[in-house]
Amino acid sequence: MAEAKRIDGKAFAEGLRGRVADQVRELKDSHNLSPGLAVVLVGNDPASEIYVRNKNKMCAEAGIKSFEHKLPDETTQKELLTLIDGLNGDPAVNGILVQLPLPDHIDEQAVLAEIDPGKDVDGFHVYNAGKLATGVPGLVPCTPLGCLMLIKEQLGDDLSGLRAMVLGRSNIVGKPMAALLLREHCTVTIAHSRTRDLAAECARADILVAAVGRAHMVKGDWIKPGATVIDVGINRLAPDADGKSKLAGDVDYQEAAAVAGAITPVPGGVGPMTIACLLRNTVAAACAQNDVEVPEG
Ligand code: GUN
Repeated sequence: MAEAKRIDGKAFAEGLRGRVADQVRELKDSHNLSPGLAVVLVGNDPASEIYVRNKNKMCAEAGIKSFEHKLPDETTQKELLTLIDGLNGDPAVNGILVQLPLPDHIDEQAVLAEIDPGKDVDGFHVYNAGKLATGVPGLVPCTPLGCLMLIKEQLGDDLSGLRAMVLGRSNIVGKPMAALLLREHCTVTIAHSRTRDLAAECARADILVAAVGRAHMVKGDWIKPGATVIDVGINRLAPDADGKSKLAGDVDYQEAAAVAGAITPVPGGVGPMTIACLLRNTVAAACAQNDVEVPEG
């Protein structure tokens, strides 16, 4: 069997960011509207710092204003909620993102619940999660939205009747991914650490989305021949002999590529889609807040 097609998320995300930049220009020209995104980072988790730096850079490239709030690790929950209240009331801020994970002394759910659902560009507020679960249009979490775009790029817009397996049940990826695929009329299974016969469950899937955070867990014999495999994992491996530590997905790419029809690499697959979708959500939020139609892009 031929090697699977490599789904180029980096190129797709570049195209999407370009379309968002066109929309931003159009909003400025036609409505004098400049979308703004506030990013809040508490503490100094190195991975989160890199994400936040990338978000600011990509916002600038797309013409979106970014407002960065870097707070020390010992910030209290009350201080964080007060900052969010201020951002909720600031008309220059159309989107608010609080980088996760938060330090242990802060209740994540209480913080997410404080964000104005109309500015919740992560789609993590229970109001937006509820909209997604009940099929009402709203702000959708960025990583699963990016995964769905890559799946449709490969399989076309009609996914109805396909068997989809989502490995992982997090609120950030697994649950919203399953809801999105269900909305597309897939037959969806969510698997997790207590699922029995995991390999056999996965091997039935036409679409397999892996989001478990365990390097190379999904093997070639877990994959249905011809399936579309989306690897959300970004796992840092132990340094090799020359001290370099590589990134690895949740899927064993070499094995999977020999069986699948198409597969996303790590890096360069799902990762770049998350920020591109964040920019897209920021434009959507700015338009909704100002009663303006989202420009075509
Ligand atoms: N941490 C890891 N992924 C994400 C994400 O998509 N949004 C936020 N806010 N934090 C994250």
